[in-house]
Amino acid sequence: MVHETGVANAQTVIELGSGSGAITTCIAESMRSDARLLGIENNSTFIEPLRQQFPQAQFIQGCASRVRCIAGEKDFLFADCILSTLPWSIFTPELRDAVIGAVHLTLAGNGVFATAVCYGTQHLPAGRDLEKSLRAVFRRVKVSPPVVWNMPPMRVYYCSK
Ligand SMILES: C[S@@+](CC[C@H](N)C(=O)[O-])C[C@H]1O[C@@H](n2cnc3c(N)ncnc32)[C@H](O)[C@@H]1O
Repeated sequence: MVHETGVANAQTVIELGSGSGAITTCIAESMRSDARLLGIENNSTFIEPLRQQFPQAQFIQGCASRVRCIAGEKDFLFADCILSTLPWSIFTPELRDAVIGAVHLTLAGNGVFATAVCYGTQHLPAGRDLEKSLRAVFRRVKVSPPVVWNMPPMRVYYCSK
């Protein structure tokens, strides 16, 4: 996911839902030394450990739907890459669409938004609605084959304007 999104060539990278930092580690290892990383995480208990583990990055406690506002404040408009492992299936349709809309406004014209979801959720109503919303907002949406070596298996949507 990090490789496909082009993190290695990015100047500005935003991660939504950094959590315990598993994806953050891959992002940090792939980024250029002069690139900048901003993580937005809702759960305040993750913020301090993330700041300690990745002192070169910035982490803000807040909802991903505020990504445009936070990115504006932190000089991350318009980001080259936005990556997420957000739990879309527990979002209300309003929150899902608010996040997708804000991501679209935050992304650079040639940027890529990648979001990983559990494989199989595309057959459930929430998964189908997520794909529909992504396709309604982004011009191109590419879906990865199942990533079966991940537990649980995932698939990734790569979205661009
Ligand atoms: C599946 S976990 C991500 C796991 C993360 N990649 C890791 O390595 O731990 C989803 C994360 O999204 C965060 N999250 C959930 N809703 C959010 C929201 N509206 N805005 C920002 N983060 C959110 C959760 O707190 C959780 O850390």
